Amino acid sequence: MPVIRVTSSSGPYSVTITPGAIGRLGALARRAVRGRTAVVVTDVHVARLWGRAALDSLADAGFSGRMAVLPAGEETKAPRFLESLWSELAEAKAGRDAVVVALGGGVVGDLAGFAAATWNRGIDLVQVPTTLLAMVDASVGGKTGINLPAGKNLAGAFHQPRLVVADLDTLKTLPEREYRAGLAEVVKYGMIGDAGLFGFLEKRRDAVVAREPGLMAEVVARCVAHKARVVARDEREAGLRMVLNLGHTFGHAIEAATRYRRYLHGEAVAIGLCAAGVLSGDRALEGRVRALVTGLGLPDRAKGLDPRKLRVLAGSDKKVRAGRIRYVVPVRIGLARVGGMVSARLESEAWEAAVRGTRV
Ligand code: GLY
Repeated sequence: MPVIRVTSSSGPYSVTITPGAIGRLGALARRAVRGRTAVVVTDVHVARLWGRAALDSLADAGFSGRMAVLPAGEETKAPRFLESLWSELAEAKAGRDAVVVALGGGVVGDLAGFAAATWNRGIDLVQVPTTLLAMVDASVGGKTGINLPAGKNLAGAFHQPRLVVADLDTLKTLPEREYRAGLAEVVKYGMIGDAGLFGFLEKRRDAVVAREPGLMAEVVARCVAHKARVVARDEREAGLRMVLNLGHTFGHAIEAATRYRRYLHGEAVAIGLCAAGVLSGDRALEGRVRALVTGLGLPDRAKGLDPRKLRVLAGSDKKVRAGRIRYVVPVRIGLARVGGMVSARLESEAWEAAVRGTRV
């Protein structure tokens, strides 16, 4: 059973990656958190599938738990739902030793994480990711937050979990589109730090798309191990951690331009990875990325959008320093660098490609 240790300024925590892990949530949480009052935050779909199992497991371990059920979708990552979680915590009489359990995908994890970061100036957080995207990325590393009309994740906090429990069984019930969207972040890890993983995805594409159980543990563990190494060295995104944003400058602009409605986050990231391939100036790399992304059933372009408007939207992203967008640029498969020089020509070709696909 893979267990990965993550070091952080607020203490180390473990990421348990295994089928059936939700059944052990209570026992694992008992060792990781101080109090015994738990508020499980989830969405309507996940509540139906996994809510009972999570509450039962917590109860068996001596927690008194209640569930806060939110609407599903990116639009839930908004101030009014943060406020509703604060009300839930108040009703639960949650004190400093209460624990928020985020049971769901990235939206639930980010929002519930921000509620935990702000309630009583910060209470314990347990992440129980139920989507591939949340397992390999959002649940690890302590980024929490909500979207504002002015941009994605603009209000937030770094708040590390005390424990991450990734139950691979939850991937079986994940809708096809959500699953494929998560694969975009897996491709990202291949591009930034694991050429072997990228090659594996190319070779075993069909088995990965078919969610072969043996493969999933390996794929998730490799991504989490990579993320753990990055966030241990740069928890607050002073430099190195920005590499995890490969493709996200494009992706966030596409999400904002389509009001978070047309694309799932991972789909927008998939388009962004292809655009980042253009930034590399390496046609072979660009071709491999595009072939893998489309082969996994992900989009490689956001048809109908205006590349210039997207570029302007990207200018209001957090990744902008002194008016310049700090792109993450692939050097080769398995290596990317942050904030390197990008020629104006490649930059504009990349934004064009984000909309039109292959280079003009
Ligand atoms: N999702 C990018 C990061 O955690 O830094």
